[in-house]
Amino acid sequence: MAERSDSLTVTDNRTGKTFELPIKDGAVTGMEFRQMKTSEDDFGLMVYDPAFKNTAACRSEITYIDGEKGVLEHRGYPIEQLAEESSFLEVAQLLINGELPSKEEHAAFTQEVTTHTFVHENMKKFIEGFRYDANPMSMLISSVAALSSFYPEAGDVSDPASRRAQMIRLLAKVPTLAAFAYRHTQGLPYVYPRNDLSYPANFLSMVFNINEPDYKPHPVLERAFDVLFILHADHEQNCSTTAMRGVGSSHADPYTALSAAASALYGPLHGGANRMVLYMLERIGTKDNIPNFVEKVKKKEELLMGFGHRVYRNYDPRARIIKKLAHQVFEITGVNPLLEIAVELERIALEDEYFVERKLYPNVDFYSGLIYQAMKFPIDFYPVLFAIGRTAGWLAQWREMLEDKEQKIARPRQLYVGNSTRDYVPMDKR
Ligand code: ACO
Repeated sequence: MAERSDSLTVTDNRTGKTFELPIKDGAVTGMEFRQMKTSEDDFGLMVYDPAFKNTAACRSEITYIDGEKGVLEHRGYPIEQLAEESSFLEVAQLLINGELPSKEEHAAFTQEVTTHTFVHENMKKFIEGFRYDANPMSMLISSVAALSSFYPEAGDVSDPASRRAQMIRLLAKVPTLAAFAYRHTQGLPYVYPRNDLSYPANFLSMVFNINEPDYKPHPVLERAFDVLFILHADHEQNCSTTAMRGVGSSHADPYTALSAAASALYGPLHGGANRMVLYMLERIGTKDNIPNFVEKVKKKEELLMGFGHRVYRNYDPRARIIKKLAHQVFEITGVNPLLEIAVELERIALEDEYFVERKLYPNVDFYSGLIYQAMKFPIDFYPVLFAIGRTAGWLAQWREMLEDKEQKIARPRQLYVGNSTRDYVPMDKR
């Protein structure tokens, strides 16, 4: 038997030439194909992969997903353990710095984030400029981009100290901007951040506090939000993280890059799916209508929102944790009547051949919206809640990208399939 080596042998049948491509970390390098030419002036072979279904664009040490088995780990720590035992700010440190912090490091980091939660007063005026019915996600996207103008030094992305300062600011200020967006849509005065509260409690205070100097959220809801932020903190190279890395690769400042990432998250196929789940459950209305709805999904007339995932071909581990969390929250808020429909819809879908053979399971968005609705968040606000948690991951991925010597400005190739050269035809001759 021939000796095995970590390489791939490719014969180009156009020329009969054979090439040996090294395999590293389970991949061959796309640039290796460029040497495969039919003539000296041939550009060389490219790899066609729309939507990057099988293209690794970076080496990363942050998040590991085994989509077949339904495994999610950050820096090696299983998501179940982080959700059970950690806090969002500790997970943010883990994601950004690579290791769990010591007690002192964590206290210092928490203090830094806590004391950077205020935004410039002009940001309030900026948010006031939006219509009363503006989508809070548009407000968040625009206000994060606007923050860039307050920190011109953020443009120096090569300075590690500046990078760190902006990461602290973004972690601290995104919840403030999110809460201001919420208060604006409700016609309520903005509530300033409070340094005596935890990260999730301060956020809930900025959202829900009406004139209570000692406002404190229920501890179960405070913990539920910490866990929800943890569950959304990172998910490797998804659409929004790809936007963060792509825009960041041009060395735009992190506010601008994070605004682009949040824009990608806005879409209904990504972070906007949690609100689409609620609209879907409301439209279904009663358990009796579920079979009819499922039939429409199978005929491709509808999408079962909150189901399916590019990477998971198994139950999304975050969905399992959120489903459990929902029951704890409902003990405080009262049961969301849509839960019954969601549970039944999941049961029917998981038994149906259509979903089984396509390996479609609930994703993180299937149950999160039910919690948000029970806490009286408006539906349009759900992607904003997702963005607060994901800020940690976007920043960790941005930092890793900038420190990675193999990275350059992102610039995919295309296969040009348009017209070949032709002469311009004057308008009266067309
Ligand atoms: N409902 C019904 N059918 C579905 C669904 C769904 N939710 N998801 C996938 N399918 C079907 C597709 O129609 C396709 O069927 P076919 O083989 O007959 O053509 C098959 O399953 C494979 O799906 P793909 O389109 O290849 O899956 P892809 O990886 O491109 O899409 C996505 C993943 C976008 C998440 C998709 O499953 C979807 O649209 N889900 C609903 C939206 C959603 O919940 N998004 C949140 C994702 S998690 C997140 O971003 C946080």
